[in-house]
Amino acid sequence: MTHNDSFAEQSAILVQRINQYLDELLSQSCSSERLRQAMRHAVLAGGKRIRPLLVYAAGRLAGAELRNLDAAAAAVELVHCYSLVHDDLPAMDDDDLRRGRPTLHKAFDEATAILAGDALLALAFQCLADAAADYPDSRAVTASLRVLAHASGGAGMVGGQMLDIAMAGSYPDKALVEQMFSLKTGALIHAAVMMGGYASRQAPDQQLSARLSHFGTAIGLCFQVQDDILDVTGDTARLGKPQGSDEDKDKPNYALRYGLDVARQRADDLFAEAHQSLAEYGSRAEPLRWMAAYITRRDY
Ligand code: IPE
Ligand code: IPE
Ligand code: MG
Ligand code: MG
Ligand code: MG
Repeated sequence: MTHNDSFAEQSAILVQRINQYLDELLSQSCSSERLRQAMRHAVLAGGKRIRPLLVYAAGRLAGAELRNLDAAAAAVELVHCYSLVHDDLPAMDDDDLRRGRPTLHKAFDEATAILAGDALLALAFQCLADAAADYPDSRAVTASLRVLAHASGGAGMVGGQMLDIAMAGSYPDKALVEQMFSLKTGALIHAAVMMGGYASRQAPDQQLSARLSHFGTAIGLCFQVQDDILDVTGDTARLGKPQGSDEDKDKPNYALRYGLDVARQRADDLFAEAHQSLAEYGSRAEPLRWMAAYITRRDY
């Protein structure tokens, strides 16, 4: 077995672990059975679970125990799933396919999709707050809640989605597009990495915090550049979402606006930057390094 096979296997086990955790979380009663089913549709059956995997990988570097990482992993995935449901709505990207299945507003209806997204966002924070006792101290819980809240809202994902809409049909400067990417996608990925660090018994020292933050920022931006490349070069069946959606809607897609070669070079440079930020750490950083390669080289 090669080095990479073993990380792929470990990731598959962690994906199973988080899927089961999310399944249990979404089995809890809800005042509306239809709403509960819609939330399950949005979260279960599909999804690469890259953000939970980043929580686990950063936790490994920081020395956190696996069982103390589950709530953070679930919370960031719940916010991500909510963001996908709203991103697909007719008022936003107007897409019909997600994770190989009809988008939530197609499988249910628009009002249910909006409300299920709202409920998933609330559940994310409830899940994290309920796990407070697993954290080394209350400051770690607060730090985790703060980074996730910041990444989710107007100064993070939602703010970035707003800029994304405003940029449709325009040819903005590359730096502006990157800023939008860092908000709409990078912020949650950065939060996942930081939350992995906060769950450690021994709070990460300043240097580790700074390195994790640098890694999360670089790989978060890289993630969206690669997503844009795949929107151009990918295959709908493999992606599980419509290839060419950005071109259809004249979105500020990095590969369409600046060319595939420029986009690929940028993804490679960001990967190298992420890698470099872990240079002084040994084997405990290997899961994060593997994740960086996975994010950059994935074909779906
Ligand atoms: C897609 O994210 C949305 C973006 C932020 C670009 P993923 O590629 O992680 O989607 P899933 O969770 O695997 O479906
Ligand atoms: C979405 O970016 C980022 C989110 C905050 C959900 P995209 O619109 O490119 O994501 P996909 O391609 O639909 O998954
Ligand atoms: Mg979008
Ligand atoms: Mg979209
Ligand atoms: Mg996309």
